[in-house]
Amino acid sequence: MKHLLSTADLTAADISALLDSTDAMVEISSRPVPKVPALRGKTVAQVFFEDSTRTRLSFDTAAKRLSADTLTFTASTSSLNKGESLRDTIETLSAMGVDAFVVRHKSSGVPSAVTKWTEASVVNAGDGWHQHPTQALLDAHTVTRSLGTGNSMEGLHVAIVGDVAHSRVARSDIDLFTKLGARITVVSTATLAPVAWLGARNIEVVGSLDGVISEIDVAYMLRLQKERMSAGLLPAGGEYSERFGLDDRRAAAMRRGAIVMHPGPMNRGVEMVADPGRLNSSRVLTQVSTGVAVRMAVLFTILGGGSLIGSTDGKAAE
Ligand code: CP
Repeated sequence: MKHLLSTADLTAADISALLDSTDAMVEISSRPVPKVPALRGKTVAQVFFEDSTRTRLSFDTAAKRLSADTLTFTASTSSLNKGESLRDTIETLSAMGVDAFVVRHKSSGVPSAVTKWTEASVVNAGDGWHQHPTQALLDAHTVTRSLGTGNSMEGLHVAIVGDVAHSRVARSDIDLFTKLGARITVVSTATLAPVAWLGARNIEVVGSLDGVISEIDVAYMLRLQKERMSAGLLPAGGEYSERFGLDDRRAAAMRRGAIVMHPGPMNRGVEMVADPGRLNSSRVLTQVSTGVAVRMAVLFTILGGGSLIGSTDGKAAE
C-alpha cells in the first residue's frame, strides 16, 4: 500500500491487517516509553489546509512514536498567502525530502491530486464531504474491541445519526463497516441524507432515533456540519436535537452493552445533548486514543518500516 486515499482502497483483509497492527500500536503506546525506531530516517509532513485538532495531533504523535521526523505546514502562515499554488507548495516540501504527506483539505479530491505532484506516499486526513479513511479505521477498531467481535462487525447493527450528507466520516464509516459485515441504519432527514448514494448501497434511512434506539449496538452521532451547509436544510430551531439528539432518555433506552460514538468535534446540546463524560456507554475518548494507534499502523504499513525490532522494552528508540 503506497497511499491511503479512501476506504474504497481497502479490502476486508487489508482492514483486518490494519486492525491487528493497531493492537500492536496500542501495546506500544501503553509502555512507559511509548516509542520505537521503526520509521527512523523517514519524514512525515502534515499539510493541513483545513482546521483540525484530533487528526493533526494524532498523526504527529503517531509519527513521533515511530521515530519519524515531522514537518508541520500551516496554511494560514505559509506562502499560499503570497499566491503560491498548492502544487508548488507540495513540490517545494517534496524537495525537502518528505516520505509521506498527510493531507487535509476542504475540497474533495485534493489528496488524490497531490499523488501526481510527488513521489512520496499520501494519506488522506479528510477531504471535503468525500473521505476520512483513518477515522473509519479507528472507529472500526473502537467498535470491534469494545464489543469483542474480533475483526468482524457481522451481526452488529449501527445507527449513523444526523447530518450524513455533509459528512466524510459517515461515507467512510458506512463503506468500511459494511465491508466488515455490519448492518447500517441511517437516522436523518431527506435534506441531510445522500439518498441516491445510500440507495445504491441498500442502506435503510429512518426519520426518528426513537424508532431504533433500543435495537442498535452502536449509536454513531455525527456533528451537525453548519459550516458546510447552505441555508434551508435544517429542521427548524430545536427540532434537530429533538429528533436526532442523544439525550439522557435515549441513552438510557439503549440496550445493555451498546455504545455511543462521535468523531468530534461535538456540538454539545445539539447532536450530543447528554454529557458523554457521564455515560458509561460513551467511547468518544477511546476513539481519540485509538486514533493515535491507528495512524501509527497506517504510517508503519505505508512507509514499510520492516519489523518492530527492538521494540519490546521501550528503549529501542534511545
Ligand atoms: N474527527 C476529526 O477529524 O476531528 P478533527 O477535525 O479535530 O481532526
